Amino acid sequence: MHIHIFDTPGDVAAALARRVADALAPRPDLVLGLPTGRTPIAMYAELRRLHAAGEADFSHAVTFNLDEFAGVEPAHPGSFRQYMETHLFGAVNLPRDRIHFLDGAAPDLDAECRRYEQEIEAYGGIDLQILGIGANGHIGFNEPGEQLLARTHRVTLADSTRRDNAALFGGDQARVPREALSMGMGTILKARALILVAMGERKATWIERTINGPVTTRLPASFLQLHRRADLYLDRDAARLL
Ligand code: PGA
Repeated sequence: MHIHIFDTPGDVAAALARRVADALAPRPDLVLGLPTGRTPIAMYAELRRLHAAGEADFSHAVTFNLDEFAGVEPAHPGSFRQYMETHLFGAVNLPRDRIHFLDGAAPDLDAECRRYEQEIEAYGGIDLQILGIGANGHIGFNEPGEQLLARTHRVTLADSTRRDNAALFGGDQARVPREALSMGMGTILKARALILVAMGERKATWIERTINGPVTTRLPASFLQLHRRADLYLDRDAARLL
């Protein structure tokens, strides 16, 4: 894995956004895999800024988001779809028909997961997947456990994950859905390039183990060790134990 350490979270965001813009320039039809959460908010702000400055063109780009809450309509204010509308889609020239999302309100969630896998395949796979890491080491919503699933699937969210997402649901953990849909470990690891982003001391232990520890289902991010082109973009706090 290639490790990039930056002084501040702002520097991480700027470098990431620049990496995306630089990848789009020679390959306008790049297939991007995108994350939600607090970590990428500054990266999306920077991408909006680059777009407004004429330095990031999304007119031919294709996006697939990692995950979505089950039982939540795309228009629900707590949905990841709405997060993306707010932070990126609403402010750049990405055509609507090039945005791909899991629909948490689909009538048959298993069929919805199969549809998503097929759609990713139909576009030839993901070129550049950007990932956050959960406070429990998850990537996408692949929660630590006895086993991990390869394909896009339904997941039961860990209590810590529901707590971490309470802000999207009026600060009330009880209102955070118990289930979600997520790209699987194989879906993620098949991306041609991966970037894991982490900021803050809260992530430092998991980052150290992601890099130096065993590959284990107890730490889904550790599987990035098996990828040929995985980069870690870290601020000093997240890199504190390296
Ligand atoms: P965070 O979430 O950026 O809000 O810490 C990351 C994740 O759960 O992947």
